[in-house]
Amino acid sequence: AIQVMLMLVIAYLLGSIPSGVWIGKAFFHIDIRQHGSGNIGTTNTYRVLGPTAGTIVMAMDISKGALATLLPVFFGNDTINALVFGLAAILGHTFSIFDHFKGGKAVATSAGMILAYQPIFFLIAAGIWILVILLTSMVSLASMVAFTLTTITTFFANDLFLSILAIALTVFIFYRHRANINRILHGNERMVPFGLGNYL
Ligand code: G3P
Repeated sequence: AIQVMLMLVIAYLLGSIPSGVWIGKAFFHIDIRQHGSGNIGTTNTYRVLGPTAGTIVMAMDISKGALATLLPVFFGNDTINALVFGLAAILGHTFSIFDHFKGGKAVATSAGMILAYQPIFFLIAAGIWILVILLTSMVSLASMVAFTLTTITTFFANDLFLSILAIALTVFIFYRHRANINRILHGNERMVPFGLGNYL
């Protein structure tokens, strides 16, 4: 039980690493929380600091969720479901101890958890995400659609815990995107400079 507690703390701390904030401060002397959407994730890093920084932050945030979910493998301890550690990392990412218990919108870290747990669902989610971005140029919309549809596909896996967690995460991700939803409905959501959305 002590080992599981330790693993949960590690997962939370891993998730807490505010990659976007740290990369921005270390290499650009820019606090991305003061620019663009103010979010600390891949999209706003890309928007404010460019594609290289955005890609690094995406890789780091996906890795946080994936490494946390792999902790039972590293520790040789499978007392509890690996998804619980992924969830601890997601909570770290959204309520970060390094960022006054604030944080991101849970998209990349959740994707990392799914990647480590069941890669097929990561591939489904990533495919939908990219498709919706190319169609609408809105990453927020793509994130919400990808989580909704991927959650439905998990029903075919007969993994009740995975599906319940996926439903809960989808609800949570919509909640974290409430400002985005408002902008989408008012037609003024920020767009990436590629995809059909720019021409509609
Ligand atoms: O991953 C977050 C994304 O879905 C939206 O980011 O910065 O456009 O609010 P942003």
